[in-house]
Amino acid sequence: MMRALVYHGPKNVSVDEVPDAKIEKPTDALIKITTTNICGSDLHMYEGRTDVEEGKVLGHENMGEVIEVGDGVDRVKVGDMVCLPFNIGCGFCKNCEAGRTGFCLTANPGNAGAAYGYADMGPYNGGQAELLRVPYADWNALVLPEDAREKEKDYVMLSDILPTGYHGTELAQVGIGESVVIWGAGPVGLMAAMSARLRGADQVFVVDRQSDRLKLAEQLDATPIDDSKGDAVQQILDATRGEGADKGVEAVGYQAHDHEGQERPGLTINSLIQAVRPTGRIGVVGVFVPEDPEAEDDLAKEGKFGFDFGTFFFKGQAMGTGQCNTKQYNRQLRNLIHRGKLNPGLIVSHELNLDQAAEGYKNFDDRLDGWTKVLLHP
Ligand SMILES: NC(=O)c1ccc[n+]([C@@H]2O[C@H](COP(=O)([O-])OP(=O)(O)OC[C@H]3O[C@@H](n4cnc5c(N)ncnc54)[C@H](O)[C@@H]3O)[C@@H](O)[C@H]2O)c1
Ligand SMILES: [Zn+2]
Ligand SMILES: [Zn+2]
Repeated sequence: MMRALVYHGPKNVSVDEVPDAKIEKPTDALIKITTTNICGSDLHMYEGRTDVEEGKVLGHENMGEVIEVGDGVDRVKVGDMVCLPFNIGCGFCKNCEAGRTGFCLTANPGNAGAAYGYADMGPYNGGQAELLRVPYADWNALVLPEDAREKEKDYVMLSDILPTGYHGTELAQVGIGESVVIWGAGPVGLMAAMSARLRGADQVFVVDRQSDRLKLAEQLDATPIDDSKGDAVQQILDATRGEGADKGVEAVGYQAHDHEGQERPGLTINSLIQAVRPTGRIGVVGVFVPEDPEAEDDLAKEGKFGFDFGTFFFKGQAMGTGQCNTKQYNRQLRNLIHRGKLNPGLIVSHELNLDQAAEGYKNFDDRLDGWTKVLLHP
């Protein structure tokens, strides 16, 4: 038996004894987890806003040591330190072949996209546990260099939020000398700010109302925009000669709320349409869902909201969306971490033992001051 963080219902998770993860197919590897993160995506499940099954082990941001490989695994070796993309891909379907590993057609039959410990993303347990089974290990595992342990806080971000933030800037096609506005200063928004800098953006604005997170945005050389201190769209227009930013990134998702706490799923998208200049592109990496039965209004229950399409069309804007294809970027971003050119670990606020996971979930979900990114060590 192993210890793992199990979902029991809304705001009810605990570390329990569950059967050990094990090799089930010859293409699997078994990982002893050294670090596993809590993600903003976990909070949608934690708050009971998905149909994740009770009894599921959560955790899709995983890193650890390979302790066993199946007979069909050639590249990955026992003893390797690896970081796992949150998406599980097969490597041979139409989408994986095209690099769209977030939309694998094999790993979650009948759907496009699989992940560890996640609602609607296949039967896979997560890595907030002592052990993790990694399917199609040769394809999925990113092997880390010899400084893996020393830079663990940085490398573990390759599992999700760093590539996802980067994906937001790729969907928006952020280029040199451009201005970018990012909605959301959570871990994903902060990683998008870091990525926009990496791609040579000139001005980077980050919108939120959590002062601790806005401070981190400032540390990343971005301009914090506090929307509780005045309309964020107007603040962006004022800072860009009335034109709007060249590009935009959505890093909040369907549980976006106004600064009084009222949920408004269309708020960030429609604000981006206003705050981005004509012909600008918007990358949406915040998660939106096709069904949300617990939502406050009838439209939102069906995953819908009023979209300001007239303005979007008149401005000739374009929008890219979806889960990050982590494997498209994780190798290159790993190299930048190795060479000391990126340090995504600077946003880590708490490192807890796995046994303290439930407390970590609660405090991160309450967005307690200073709880930016939580790492768990089994
Ligand atoms: N596309 C992907 O592959 C992918 C991967 C990881 C996470 N995500 C999603 O990205 C989103 C962000 O993740 P995170 O870990 O940063 O989450 P988080 O919940 O920690 O951060 C969200 C931030 O948005 C802020 N916010 C809420 N409403 C706002 C509004 N109207 N305007 C401005 N800011 C607002 C909150 O204060 C918070 O700081 C989530 O929806 C998550 O599920 C997507
Ligand atoms: Zn995540
Ligand atoms: Zn595939």
